[in-house]
Amino acid sequence: MATGEAGGKAAPPPPSPELVSFLAIGLDQRTAENALANRKVTANLTAVITEAGVVSGCDKSVGNLLYTVATKYPANALVHRPVVIQYIVSSKIKSPAQLDAALSFLSTLGPDSLDTAKFEETCGVGVVVSTEEIQSTVTDVLKENMEAIVEQRYHINVGSLCGQVRKRHPWGDAKFIKEEIDKRLTEILGPKTEADNIKPMKKKKEKPAKVEDKKTAAAAPAPPSEEELNPYSIFPQPEENLKVHTEIFFSDGNIWRAHNTKDILEKHLKTTGGKVMTRFPPEPNGYLHIGHAKAMFIDFGLAKERNGHCYVRFDDTNPEAEKKEYIDHIQEIVQWMGWEPYKVTYTSDYFQELYELAVCLIKKGLAYVDHQTPEEIKEYREKQMNSPWRDRPIEESLKLFEDMRHGLVPEGKATLRMKQDMQNDNKNMADLIAYRIKFTPHPHAGDKWFIYPSYDYAHCLVDSLENITHSLCTLEFDIRRPSYYWLLVALDQYQPYVWEYSRLNISNNVMSKRKLNRLVTEKWVDGWDDPRLLTLAGLRRRGVSSTAINSFIRGMGITRSDNSLIRVERLEYHIREELNKVASRTMVVLHPLKVVITNLESGKIIDLDAKKWPDAPGDDASAYYKVPFSRTVYIEQSDFRVKDSKDYYGLAPGKTVLLRYAFPIKCTEVIYGDNTDNIVEIRAEYDPSKATKPKGVLHWVAEPSPGVDPLKVEIRLFERLFLSENPVELEDWLGDLNPRSKEVIKGAYAVPSLATAALGDKFQFERLGYFAVDSDSTPEELVFNRTVTLRDSYGKAGPK
Ligand SMILES: *[C@@H]1O[C@H](CO)[C@@H](O)[C@H](O)[C@H]1NC(C)=O
Ligand SMILES: *[C@@H]1O[C@H](CO)[C@@H](O)[C@H](O)[C@H]1NC(C)=O
Ligand SMILES: *[C@@H]1O[C@H](CO)[C@@H](O)[C@H](O)[C@H]1NC(C)=O
Repeated sequence: MATGEAGGKAAPPPPSPELVSFLAIGLDQRTAENALANRKVTANLTAVITEAGVVSGCDKSVGNLLYTVATKYPANALVHRPVVIQYIVSSKIKSPAQLDAALSFLSTLGPDSLDTAKFEETCGVGVVVSTEEIQSTVTDVLKENMEAIVEQRYHINVGSLCGQVRKRHPWGDAKFIKEEIDKRLTEILGPKTEADNIKPMKKKKEKPAKVEDKKTAAAAPAPPSEEELNPYSIFPQPEENLKVHTEIFFSDGNIWRAHNTKDILEKHLKTTGGKVMTRFPPEPNGYLHIGHAKAMFIDFGLAKERNGHCYVRFDDTNPEAEKKEYIDHIQEIVQWMGWEPYKVTYTSDYFQELYELAVCLIKKGLAYVDHQTPEEIKEYREKQMNSPWRDRPIEESLKLFEDMRHGLVPEGKATLRMKQDMQNDNKNMADLIAYRIKFTPHPHAGDKWFIYPSYDYAHCLVDSLENITHSLCTLEFDIRRPSYYWLLVALDQYQPYVWEYSRLNISNNVMSKRKLNRLVTEKWVDGWDDPRLLTLAGLRRRGVSSTAINSFIRGMGITRSDNSLIRVERLEYHIREELNKVASRTMVVLHPLKVVITNLESGKIIDLDAKKWPDAPGDDASAYYKVPFSRTVYIEQSDFRVKDSKDYYGLAPGKTVLLRYAFPIKCTEVIYGDNTDNIVEIRAEYDPSKATKPKGVLHWVAEPSPGVDPLKVEIRLFERLFLSENPVELEDWLGDLNPRSKEVIKGAYAVPSLATAALGDKFQFERLGYFAVDSDSTPEELVFNRTVTLRDSYGKAGPK
């Protein structure tokens, strides 16, 4: 039956001849396919294979060397490529180390004529390293490392041992060296034990978020350690930003540190007088939150402690993100936090210098104009492949960059990329973008620019231009350290000391700018300064002082390691500590329940002294305020129960409680409304002799004069904004918002003395918490916001 093409199974397309030959020389499938995905690599490799005469295949080790020639061969020495290929095919160059030496020799030589003897010497052609020589060197190296070997056993870094041997025999057979070391380790250490097989904890591995213990969070912190007394002692002095600059700097593993030359450092120290210079670099695209308080504590705090300076630098590389509102807010809140900027600068202040440095980078052959689309860039980064534009002539990049600057290249059609290392496993070295085209005027720089620098390009350079000695940031930036230093080295710029600290996350809230932005713009909360948010403006509106915030931060110390979620209780501890000292006490009843004192004649007012401060000395009148006690008193509805129980300290029929600063009262009758759920009034008798000593003590408010209601106030209570401790872990984090995070209570009753409270005043409402006078207050009605509860949560009437 004829089914036609559509019904039949289409045969897979035959592999291309290139793929066949790439596999024939022993490349693995992935490398071969990646090579095919890049036109330039495909062309180079095909040419090299043909030149080598190995189209039908060769040994894998030869094939890999040929691949290196195809991808890494220095463009300036192309004339010598046939020679190198012949050395490989004839096994005169056998190892990657030899080939590396050959290629670096040729890149310095360029097209000049080749001195064969010198070339062969440089890459060890014909050098035979005998088995005995290697074995003897292995013995030496193992001896030198014996202490570590005995201690770490099979966890010893074998790669480093091999490296030490190979350093002494660059042309020795790497495979043999490794085998020899493995063999000898077994001889020395014997069979592997159980402990040898346990994988050591990888330091880099992210621990899952752990929430600190509730008790530790709310408890008084341990006495401060030396580091807490001076948390800045971990930072070096400016003159220590010096290490001899060597070639191996860029390949020495992951430790990237400032390596200034003596000259550069001396010049720097001369300008700064050796002062510590730091910067606080917010992006003006949102309000600051408590995480920024930590950044300020570190940046400003270090400068202050060392008698140096700290800049506020607005990172305004993106002309679209910035808003004046944010810039104003940030400057104001920095002051409120108690910090004084040395100068306020903008990254855009340096656009001209940054541009000139970019031209310089192109001239050095270390940047190129690229035309890849964002998708292509992403794909090539994943495949660790070079952009086809990477090796275009310097002149061409210079010309195109000039065109970009003058607005002659359309948006999205070109970028300037740094020529870093596409094969590096750190994606932040994958030829980061230095400049993009944007036809948007800049709020500060005006309409002068059609190109704008990236954060990665600008940040390190502006740090350097401002002679920042310590560039401190949060841990998620640590993978950017290599590119930070790469650029400064490439341009011979002063290198600051870079250090990352752990990011601050607090339970039951969100701290990312993006999430805060959504909460605000989608009106889940009442603006950036909603008291439930951990923005600094929100905390301030809630009545929290900057000193409490700073002491919370200081208490945590400056560490690189702790990635735990800090409990909000810990912050509350510091808030209470301070309010306990500054907030005077008073009494307010949120949900009043009327109590009629039947044995007190109506019209009688007893003036009592209540304590403003708990430890007030007896004769200091200012430590007291007056409260009237009269026939009609109000207590909290929750402080009365019809059914008493042993662990209940409130009022119940037949039971006696103490009204604080006043008298014991005993409940004699309950008056119900329409039904038994509706208690409208309690009748009670008071004990003027105060002879009874009840366990329960209640706060209360009485009628100031017969038939006149007590002072009415509005109260706002805040609870956790999110129900979960770590909402960011949830897919639907907005669904975790606490529907009862804000409660507004109208018609609460207060003692008369509160009538004079003014905006900014802070009080402790007995048994309820700390409250601040709200700006929504009017002469008719005062409004109070609760800053924080008391240690014991409200609701259990207990002895205090
Ligand atoms: C801290 O918050 C950031 C941003 O919301 C998040 O990416 C990170 O995973 C959080 N860390 C912990 C330990 O919760
Ligand atoms: C930074 O130091 C250099 C000398 O190393 C000096 O020329 C320059 O003016 C300084 N920059 C600032 C902003 O202080
Ligand atoms: C008090 O709470 C209200 C309601 O959330 C808020 O709008 C106001 O800013 C708060 N005021 C203070 C001083 O915290």
